[in-house]
Amino acid sequence: MTAPITVTVDLAERSYPIHIGEGLLERAADIIPSIKGKKLFIVYDRNVEPHVARLKKSIGDAPSLALEGGEKTKSYAHLTQVTDWLLSNHVDRKSILFVVGGGVIGDLGGFAASVVLRGIPFIQVPTTLLAQVDSSVGGKTGINTSQGKNLIGAFYQPQAVLCDTDTLKTLPDRELKAGYAEIVKYGLLGSREFYEWLEANGKDVLSLKPASLKHAIETSCKMKAEIVGDDEREQAGGNRALLNLGHTFGHALEAAAGYDGRLLHGEAVSIGMVLAFRLCVKMGICSGQDATRMENHLKSCGLKTEISQISPALSQSPADLVALMSHDKKASAGKIGFILVKGIGQAFQSSDVDMALVETTLKSAI
Ligand code: GLY
Repeated sequence: MTAPITVTVDLAERSYPIHIGEGLLERAADIIPSIKGKKLFIVYDRNVEPHVARLKKSIGDAPSLALEGGEKTKSYAHLTQVTDWLLSNHVDRKSILFVVGGGVIGDLGGFAASVVLRGIPFIQVPTTLLAQVDSSVGGKTGINTSQGKNLIGAFYQPQAVLCDTDTLKTLPDRELKAGYAEIVKYGLLGSREFYEWLEANGKDVLSLKPASLKHAIETSCKMKAEIVGDDEREQAGGNRALLNLGHTFGHALEAAAGYDGRLLHGEAVSIGMVLAFRLCVKMGICSGQDATRMENHLKSCGLKTEISQISPALSQSPADLVALMSHDKKASAGKIGFILVKGIGQAFQSSDVDMALVETTLKSAI
């Protein structure tokens, strides 16, 4: 077994490692020796039971709670279920909660860890590509409410992140592609060089060729770690908001689809990034060549790039989608926050966008 690659999220006393590699679950206790002697708990997506069994080979038979993996699990009811379960199993302040699954379980489990006993340590074990390159890193935790996604939550950093690439072998192809969209996002927002590497090697990443896969995850985690290290709480003027490239459009599409499984988060981000580039072309700040180039790459990897590809079709008009954008938590004082681009690898934030152009951009994709 090769040694894991380790990327550090540098946050002073709250710094933590992200370990990336094959066969890490069976070696969890050696890779994270600080768990020794602690009372351990596991909350997990019931679809990843076999990976939990691998983890238990290393850390022992800790009390475990299985949950459904869909977006509906990010609810108050499930938060209560997790915290009640921890309390009735006599969790203490030194206990460690392993959170095993994709972004849904990661966000819910992390939020439960942040509130139970006013905060216990937790370890993220992301089992989807999207969670490995984005949601498990950076401490955003939370649940959805009827008003929208992620509106209740906390910034609460894990003790460690364990990205075992073997978990991706059992991931449905659609989810793998959705996670890949978030990898492309890093190139588009801040590194033309990484984006060009993805154009050349994306197919190898998607077919899980070990060296390419690990390079893509490591580069994404390094870029995220650097951004989070400089701007942990997404402050005005900081760079964390750049991670939301494609998300203003994407969140509106997800809300329109009603989180019913028609549109995965990464798929919404893929369409959203295409729309963000098209908007910037219309604004005259980005070249049409760059917009076509990124769109072609996403298409060639089998990702959705048009709203018209969502099936069954959305019933909302472009004006309805614009209205949904104003509910996004990045909207402030009536202004909708956008991440714009001057080209591939050059993203910046702005709330100064002509909404008529946004509506025209949406029309072009329906
Ligand atoms: N997924 C965006 C962030 O972590 O800030």
